[in-house]
Amino acid sequence: MLENKKIVLGVTGGIAAYKAAELIRALIKKGAQVKVIMTKSAKEFITPLTLQTLSQNQVYTDMFVPADKYEMAHITLAEFADAFVIAPATANIIGKIASGIGDDLLSTTIMAQEKPTLICPAMNDKMLANPIVQKNINKLKKFGYAVMESAEGELACKTKGKGRLPDVAEIVEAIETLLTPKDFAGVKILITAGPTEEPLDPVRFITNLSSGKRLI
Ligand SMILES: Cc1cc2nc3c(=O)[nH]c(=O)nc-3n(C[C@H](O)[C@H](O)[C@H](O)COP(=O)(O)O)c2cc1C
Repeated sequence: MLENKKIVLGVTGGIAAYKAAELIRALIKKGAQVKVIMTKSAKEFITPLTLQTLSQNQVYTDMFVPADKYEMAHITLAEFADAFVIAPATANIIGKIASGIGDDLLSTTIMAQEKPTLICPAMNDKMLANPIVQKNINKLKKFGYAVMESAEGELACKTKGKGRLPDVAEIVEAIETLLTPKDFAGVKILITAGPTEEPLDPVRFITNLSSGKRLI
């Protein structure tokens, strides 16, 4: 399913950023091509060198590059990708996407593309429960982004609650779902248990034979 699929992975500055390494390995193992964009904060948690080595590709970190390396990465990455994934996604990147802010390479690239996009929020439970964060997550869903449910359990800040990055296997499965063609998208299906009956009076009705057509 992921063989030769091109995934652009955005990694943001959360404690779960180290799990991006595992995610890249899992995607590569499935035959995907992976290019990584890291935010400035993400580099505090894991090095670009690690993600570059695992993805076997240059890691993108800067919006503005020297003239000799001229590339408008926010445009070329948008063209390259079959899908975008942000894992882990901080409250900050979620808020920026929801507000149309493009102040670094990742937020600008996300704004400049229309590919299927999966957001995997990971943060402290109180941050996740914050009504503004929830409003932003709902806004992303309304605009067609796939947003994974954060997992429950022990958090890095020593509390227990909802906010963990889902397991890598679950993220990979969600990416596969994201890239699966939706054959029935937009198709309206009426499921009927039998023919239509139209009452004539309280005891009699007119009817017709069921067409017997199976829609699924
Ligand atoms: C040790 C530490 C852990 C953090 N973990 C998270 C986290 O898991 N989720 C989150 O949303 N923010 C977390 N933050 C805050 C973000 O790093 C901060 O909001 C940053 O501006 C995010 O930038 P970015 O979205 O551009 O990567 C953490 C900060 C520190 C210092």
